[in-house]
Amino acid sequence: MTPLIIANWKMHATIDETVKLLTEIRFSLNNPDGVEVVFAPPFTALYSAHIALQETNFKLAAQDLFWELEGPYTGEIAGSFLKDVGCHYVIVAHSERRRSFGETDEIANKKVRAALTQDLIPILCIGETDAERKSNQTMEVLQKQLKRDLQEIAMSDLKNFVVAYEPVWAIGTGNNATVEQVEEVHSFIRNTLAKMYDAPTASRIRIIYGGSVKGDNAFSLLHTKNVDGLLVGGASLIPEQFIKICQSKES
Ligand code: PGA
Repeated sequence: MTPLIIANWKMHATIDETVKLLTEIRFSLNNPDGVEVVFAPPFTALYSAHIALQETNFKLAAQDLFWELEGPYTGEIAGSFLKDVGCHYVIVAHSERRRSFGETDEIANKKVRAALTQDLIPILCIGETDAERKSNQTMEVLQKQLKRDLQEIAMSDLKNFVVAYEPVWAIGTGNNATVEQVEEVHSFIRNTLAKMYDAPTASRIRIIYGGSVKGDNAFSLLHTKNVDGLLVGGASLIPEQFIKICQSKES
């Protein structure tokens, strides 16, 4: 499986900044082999990013979508609009959305369905809080999120699916999960998916890790069993860091 490296720029980068960052990264990485690199700039910069990345192997993701196809939903963005600006992927239920915007598992499920309907590959984010880890509830929390977020999603829809394990306590804190923690959780996620669907389906789903990924921990994380890629926040806005992360598979 080709490892997937996703740059989640969150609410950073104007159009100018986006094009500048992409140009810098693109020149140094020059269509890398062996990794699939995806950028998720803010909505407002997606189209310019699409133009800047034409004729490259880099792909685009949106950071969110709304579940309805169109209609009176002021401020919302439909999946078809994301396709329209060249997105292949869409991040769903990032913990910042769960925490700051009240996104529940029910909402995550609606968004996963909407993404699939529009032929966008969902990057479904799940993860436990610090308190949940400390009280030994990690696996229970993750299992619940997977079951609820994927409720009534057919096996045939999971051909190109991505699950991002992002422990909430590791996001933006500088405290990445250890390789042992990541390995344990990723194999638990794979087994849970195998029970919910079947083993071949579970083995095709890319399970990626996110939370304080940097140039100097990407190598060990990417070479951990059951880690099929990385979701990178802060470090993806620093070209030399992000380039190093993208080159970690070979180094
Ligand atoms: P971080 O964010 O790399 O800054 O910890 C990761 C994410 O939120 O996806």
